Amino acid sequence: MLRLKDEISYLLSTLTDLDQLQIKELLEEPPEKSMGNLSFPCFVLAKTEKKPPPQIAADLAQKLSEQKRTYWTKVENKGPYINFFMNYYAVGKELIPELLENDLLAKWCNVGNGKTVVIDYSAPNIAKPFGIGHLRSTIIGNALYLIYQALGYNCIGINHLGDWGTQFGKLLAAYRLWGDEEKLKKDPVNYAYELYVKYHEEAELDDSLEDTAREWFRQLEEGEKEATDLWKTFCDFSLEEFKEVYAMLGIDFDYFLGESFYNPHLEETISLIKAKGITKVSEGALIVDLEPYELPSIVLRKKDGTNLYITRDLAAAIYRYQTFNFTYMLYVVGSEQSLHFQQLFKILELMGFEWAQQCYHIPFGLIRFKEGRMSTREGNIILLREVIEKAKKFAYQIIEDKNPELANKEKAAHAVGVGAIKFGDLCNDRVKDIDFEWEKVLDFSGDTAPYIQYSHARICSILRKAKSEQKEVTINSNFYEAMEGFSFQLEREEEKDLLRALSMLPDILLQGAATNKPSYLARYLVEVAREFSRFYHNCPVLSVEGDKFQSRILLIQATQEVLAKGLKLLGIEALEEM
Ligand code: ARG
Repeated sequence: MLRLKDEISYLLSTLTDLDQLQIKELLEEPPEKSMGNLSFPCFVLAKTEKKPPPQIAADLAQKLSEQKRTYWTKVENKGPYINFFMNYYAVGKELIPELLENDLLAKWCNVGNGKTVVIDYSAPNIAKPFGIGHLRSTIIGNALYLIYQALGYNCIGINHLGDWGTQFGKLLAAYRLWGDEEKLKKDPVNYAYELYVKYHEEAELDDSLEDTAREWFRQLEEGEKEATDLWKTFCDFSLEEFKEVYAMLGIDFDYFLGESFYNPHLEETISLIKAKGITKVSEGALIVDLEPYELPSIVLRKKDGTNLYITRDLAAAIYRYQTFNFTYMLYVVGSEQSLHFQQLFKILELMGFEWAQQCYHIPFGLIRFKEGRMSTREGNIILLREVIEKAKKFAYQIIEDKNPELANKEKAAHAVGVGAIKFGDLCNDRVKDIDFEWEKVLDFSGDTAPYIQYSHARICSILRKAKSEQKEVTINSNFYEAMEGFSFQLEREEEKDLLRALSMLPDILLQGAATNKPSYLARYLVEVAREFSRFYHNCPVLSVEGDKFQSRILLIQATQEVLAKGLKLLGIEALEEM
């Protein structure tokens, strides 16, 4: 579609006083197929042209119809709109080889070349279970990472582990009071969490516990050996467990840099802030006064000398800018932390860092699991491992029913189960809360990963069959050579619709990155899979011959590429068989 946009915006820029970029931004997808593939609303021209928009549309459509062009055929005016109709043949002839030779994205959306994006995602807390909020951050952050990477950005994925803070004082205190080494070894993260819960229960009854915890944290901040060793044990155990979860999800990070990593930088960060004259001492604590900016003031350092989450985030942001010189930094963190990020960015701005404008909080809503379906624990925390295991089990059952002959059902169940969880998240606008229902995310014919994976596998099976019938002239061979000998045919509506859908991939990825919403890509893949299904229902491939066969086989190969690439960018495996 970018081809059309380029050509139309160029021609329109020669006929109006708008520039190409303005025109591109105004071009929209018409609500109905009968209105063509792209439409230009003429309202903006009314002022300069001093004519009513429908008149402008009519005049421009007339002029446009006389212009030489490649990627669109017909132009029509409808009310204040100019509607353009794609030349499917011309687009397909370029799009399909670009897809099959894997240079579509490099050619059309290499917007990130030379730019770096730092993405802060996942960031679970040491000694606490990996909860659903962290799962959302992990899945959305990973998809954004992959999408930016596909657009040519240099991506830096950082896991800002919650490995510091007063809660460690509580944990150490609890462990020294009630801890049992055997239990810790057996199930470290859950056991640590139990201790943490117990601490809170006991602290209700006994005030002195708070002092004990504070004292442990002070020792930790001062680097005293016993506290540090114990803290390190908890970190190692948790990290080991988190890494197992990441392995299950097939997700990795460039850096694991927890909050504690920035401790050595805190003094300097605080001096920098003080030097700007924006701090105050209030009841012994050092605060940044943000009231003039209509934000609540925030504590940087408590009366007892301990530092806070925001202090470490300030040091982390500065460190990351110095180290990576990012063009953008994205914090993929739940919307409940919006205020924290407003405060963080404001302080960075007040410190005089222009790059504060390049930092974005990418918030997301909550997931609610339908009551009674998931086992919940104290504090209503749903354990991620259980969610993954359950998804795999469900997926296995479905595969067992549908395709009992399948080799390696275990592997397929993993890909389908994990894919369903990821897609069940990614297909929603991230800002909204999600009601997660197993039936919905695993439905093989719904708007789900299994549906897209299944469409992909179906195409692979058709291609295998074509190959085995020796009808493989164009399959995986040089496209241009293959194109030489026949004329590319797109006669039926379904073929055109499928091609139109395929042509949208670059547009969708650009939109996904511009809004930081992988949901555009997720929903797009459903659309491609639906178009494929309509196409395949109406346009037989293996039973036709000659140019028709060649054209259709190319079209489905290109579809397979789009589905495989798209799934991969969402962090979901495309299966050849399922
Ligand atoms: N560990 C934090 C939490 O669970 C999230 C950290 C997000 N990243 C950041 N730089 N603050 O709430």
